[in-house]
Amino acid sequence: MNRKAIFPGSFDPFTIGHHDIVMRGLEIFDEIIIGIGRNSTKQATFSLEERLEAIQRVFEHEPRVRTVLYSGLTVDFAADCGAQFILRGVRSVQDFEYERSMAEANKQLSGIETVLLYTRPEYAHISSTLVRDLHLHNKDIQPYLPTTK
Ligand code: PNS
Repeated sequence: MNRKAIFPGSFDPFTIGHHDIVMRGLEIFDEIIIGIGRNSTKQATFSLEERLEAIQRVFEHEPRVRTVLYSGLTVDFAADCGAQFILRGVRSVQDFEYERSMAEANKQLSGIETVLLYTRPEYAHISSTLVRDLHLHNKDIQPYLPTTK
């Protein structure tokens, strides 16, 4: 069986924490499709095109990872991709509750399973929100972004 997962998120921006989850996900799944969700309620700092290009560059030498934009429900995106799993990372108890309700809703909607990986402790404080704040205050955000090969 070709185990395929989607890794959905806003990725505004995609951090070293997200990167670590994808790399570890590749030990579980044959293929991962990173889906940048068009979130109508969130005002983004980085444009969809900037985010797409940045993530595509990071994984340009990893044929098992693709990055695409999607709109609408995550379960519909997963079905369009032919993915059997949703991959997400969890940093904290707060994340856990949010992830639990999303996983339950998605399971009810389509039967899809969500696989959660704990963020490595050294990355647990890193969030897109933190990186955006630093960026808005003209601080160097490179240490929080994955390097391009
Ligand atoms: O990492 P984020 O920004 O918290 O990702 C949130 C995302 C994109 C996974 C979530 O908002 C989502 O799935 N949006 C699409 C709409 C949807 O499917 N909603 C029902 C989920 S319970």
